Amino acid sequence: MDSSDDEPGATGVLVIEPMGNAGPFLAEAAARLGIRLYAATDERVHAGYEPWLTRRLDGVCPTELADTERALDDMEKFCRTRRITGVAVCWELLTPLAALLAERLGLPGNDPWLARAARNKIAMAAAFRAAGVPAPAEAVVSTVEQAHQVAASGRLGWPLVVKPAEQGGSWGVSVVAGPDGLDAAVAAAGRFTRAEPHGLPLDSRVLLQRYVPGEEFSADTVVHDGVPHPLPVVRKDTTVGRYRVETGHSCPAGLDARTVRAIQDTAARAALAVGIRNGIAHTEVKLAPGGEPVVIETGARLPGDNICELVEAATGVSEAAAYLRAVTGRVPHTEPTRDAAAALRFVLPERAGVLEYVVIPEAPGTHSRIHIRPGERVPEPADSSGRVGHVLARAASVDEARRLAAQVVADTRVKVS
Ligand SMILES: Nc1ncnc2c1ncn2[C@@H]1O[C@H](COP(=O)(O)OP(=O)(O)OP(=O)(O)O)[C@@H](O)[C@H]1O
Ligand SMILES: [Mg+2]
Repeated sequence: MDSSDDEPGATGVLVIEPMGNAGPFLAEAAARLGIRLYAATDERVHAGYEPWLTRRLDGVCPTELADTERALDDMEKFCRTRRITGVAVCWELLTPLAALLAERLGLPGNDPWLARAARNKIAMAAAFRAAGVPAPAEAVVSTVEQAHQVAASGRLGWPLVVKPAEQGGSWGVSVVAGPDGLDAAVAAAGRFTRAEPHGLPLDSRVLLQRYVPGEEFSADTVVHDGVPHPLPVVRKDTTVGRYRVETGHSCPAGLDARTVRAIQDTAARAALAVGIRNGIAHTEVKLAPGGEPVVIETGARLPGDNICELVEAATGVSEAAAYLRAVTGRVPHTEPTRDAAAALRFVLPERAGVLEYVVIPEAPGTHSRIHIRPGERVPEPADSSGRVGHVLARAASVDEARRLAAQVVADTRVKVS
C-alpha cells in the first residue's frame, strides 16, 4: 500500500450494473480495500440479483439505465448524498454513461468524448485509425446488398469477419469463407437492436473486417491519471470454424518477454485511443504471422470469462483492485507478486438441446463451476452463452496448468438431448 489512502470505509464506488462476470471480483476487491460498494441498476434487474451480490452492496441507486438523462440525474443525486469517490462498470455498453457521470461529479473517469468508441466497434475502428493503433481494415454496412458489394470489391479479402457494431460475448460474430455464407452472417450480426436486461438501444449496423490470422491474446491495461499500467498477458484459445468461441484462457501467455511487451504496449495504445484515462481496458490482440500485434477490440471494463481469477492465481495481481484504485484516483498495484501459472477451460456442449447431466470430475489443483443446470436449455455453441461450465487449474508451469485443465474437461461427462 503506497499511502494513507486505504482507511476502511473512507470511500465508496458506484458500480453501474455490477451483475456481470467481473462483479464478484469487484465486490471482493472492494471489501479488501475497505471501499463501500453501491450499485446503479433498474429496479426489475435489481429484483433478480443473486443473494451474494445483495449481501455485498452497501446501497442501490434505482434508475433506468436505458434513459441516459434520467440515469445521470438519479445517479448524480445518489452520489452527492454519499461519499462516492469513483464510478465503475462491468459491461462495456455502460462505459459512456460512467464517463459522463464521473465528469458531472468531478471524479476521475474516462474521456466522455471518446467513451462511445469503447462500446461501439465502428467508432472504435475510427478511434484506432486516428491514433495509429494497428487494427483490421473494416467496412460498415446496413444491408446484405452492401455487404456483397464490399466483399466483391476484394478490399477485405476472404475469409471475412462479420460482427455487430455493438455486442459482446461473440454474439453474432461469424468468420465467413466465401459469398455463400454472407447473407446468414449479416442477418446474424444485424439482429441486435436492444441489449437486455436493461433494454439499452444498440447500433444495429454491421461491421465487416479483414480476417487477422494468428494466435490470440488478451492484455488488460489499468490507466491512472492518463498513465497506462500494463497487466499480465493472457493466451486465449478459441474454436476455429465459423464461430470463434473461447475454449479457454491461460496465464502466463507462453511468449518471450519482448513479445509480451509488444502486446502490452499495443493494448495500452488501444486503451488510450478510446479515451481510457482513469479506469481499465480489456484488449484482445492477435499476433499476425509477422509477429506484430493487431488489436481485435478493446472494452473499458474488467475482463469477463473469470480472467480476473486466472490472472490473480498466476501472478497475484488483482485486476479488480487495480481498477478500483484507478477510478478512485489512486495509483494501481500491477507488479506480479507470484510466479505461478493458471489455465481455464470451458465445458462446451457439441450441440444445442436440453442439458440432461454434467459431471465435472474433481482433480487436485483444480476447481470447477457449472453454469447451466440439468433441465435447462443449452444454446448452440456459437457464442459464450453455450458454456455448460468451466475448470480452473493452478500449477507451477503454464503447460502443466493447461494439461490439468484439459484433462478435467476431457474427463467431464455432459449429455444434451
Ligand atoms: N478481424 C478478425 N480477425 C480474426 N479473428 C477475429 C476478428 N474479429 C473477431 N475475431 C474472432 O472472433 C472473436 C470474437 O470477436 P469480437 O471480440 O470482435 O466480438 P465480441 O462479441 O466482442 O467478443 P467477446 O465479448 O467474446 O470478446 C475474437 O475473439 C476473435 O477470435
Ligand atoms: Mg471480443
